[in-house]
Amino acid sequence: MLALTCLLLPQLTAAIALGSWAGNRAAYFLDNNPAGSSIIALKISSKDGTLSDPMRVSTGGKGLYAQGVSADGGPPVAVGADTLFSQDSVVVSANYLFTVNSGSNTVSLFWINENDPTNPKLINTASTLGEFPAAVAYSADIETACVLNGGKVAGVACYSVSKSHGLKALGGLRPIALNQTTPPVGPPGTVSDLVFNPSSSALIATIKGSPTSPGSIYAYPVLPSCDVSTKPTLSQPSSLLIDFSLTFLGCDSRAVITDPAYGASIVDINNEFEFTVSKKVVIAGQAATCWSVYAPKSNTIYVFDGGVSNITTIDATTGSIKGVVPQSDAGMGSLDAALDNGYLYVLKGAPQVSVADTIGSKGGKAKEVQTLDLASLGSRQGWTGMAIYR
Ligand SMILES: *[C@@H]1O[C@H](CO)[C@@H](O)[C@H](O)[C@H]1NC(C)=O
Ligand SMILES: *[C@@H]1O[C@H](CO)[C@@H](O)[C@H](O)[C@H]1NC(C)=O
Repeated sequence: MLALTCLLLPQLTAAIALGSWAGNRAAYFLDNNPAGSSIIALKISSKDGTLSDPMRVSTGGKGLYAQGVSADGGPPVAVGADTLFSQDSVVVSANYLFTVNSGSNTVSLFWINENDPTNPKLINTASTLGEFPAAVAYSADIETACVLNGGKVAGVACYSVSKSHGLKALGGLRPIALNQTTPPVGPPGTVSDLVFNPSSSALIATIKGSPTSPGSIYAYPVLPSCDVSTKPTLSQPSSLLIDFSLTFLGCDSRAVITDPAYGASIVDINNEFEFTVSKKVVIAGQAATCWSVYAPKSNTIYVFDGGVSNITTIDATTGSIKGVVPQSDAGMGSLDAALDNGYLYVLKGAPQVSVADTIGSKGGKAKEVQTLDLASLGSRQGWTGMAIYR
């Protein structure tokens, strides 16, 4: 398969974006819950991008919380708001919604009805062939979904996807030697993110190292048969430590990888899917920069810090820090996020989703337009992921 060039892709993205105000839109996150997981769906106003009308829909599986490494070498400790240590625990593509059941070792596929998007219908669940699935990826080009397991049995499993047969396993587990437990103990040494590159010529998994030893990036080429290879290319650039989210910057050859050890790095990817660092972006005062979103129109990277409320903006070409999108809830932290029509939807450390208008960031100032309090939905602990139906 030919890789799309950096020049071609923004035009394709712009063409897709044209229809985006047309229909009903919705935002989704996962309640990763050991008592039974659910997707929480929120209506997006077509007038001003704000959220309303939360709906809870069962995923057909259970959640499980990761555990934290004890600072004094003792037994694992309970984690706070980030229970999977991942990005992409919820993925939407056209009318499909995918999510993970970390306690059932299954992945769920839903169908989103365009007239009722906050009520997605479960098509089926399928075994992840491993333990503690934490991230999922889908390629519409090859109609294939894959999942990243990060527990005692770790690795990648893939599925063919259709509305009629749902998820159907394609081959076995591609094991990753993670040396973890179920539930995993981290964040160091746990799985982070799973994404197809923009041309669907490779599937990429990121794995955290530690503050003192590099993490790992596994790239599984997509073969001419459209199967995801079982033989990955492994990259371990020495300055990528706690490799967290991986977000492509409009083409196959450039991406950003967040790193809670210091901030983020812009990386280059060659034709053999080997990763090298082109710019290390050290964010002063950062605590845990874990999640990222790319806005092609403004060529801006937004990065989200579990311990810092304000959102940092980075120029995607130079890697220089541009400023912040201020958040009203000082100190609560910003976790998974998604961008739609210039609005950023951000899951907060509090039981809240914040909506920020980023259009102002090109000339004027980006500003928060809503803080939706969702405390009435119960415990926030397992909330993770963010995806948009448009
Ligand atoms: C795997 O984990 C165990 C327990 O944490 C540790 O003792 C061992 O050295 C690890 N092995 C490798 C290969 O990292
Ligand atoms: C967040 O950003 C605003 C606007 O730049 C700034 O005034 C505020 O001090 C920042 N808050 C924190 C906690 O850094």
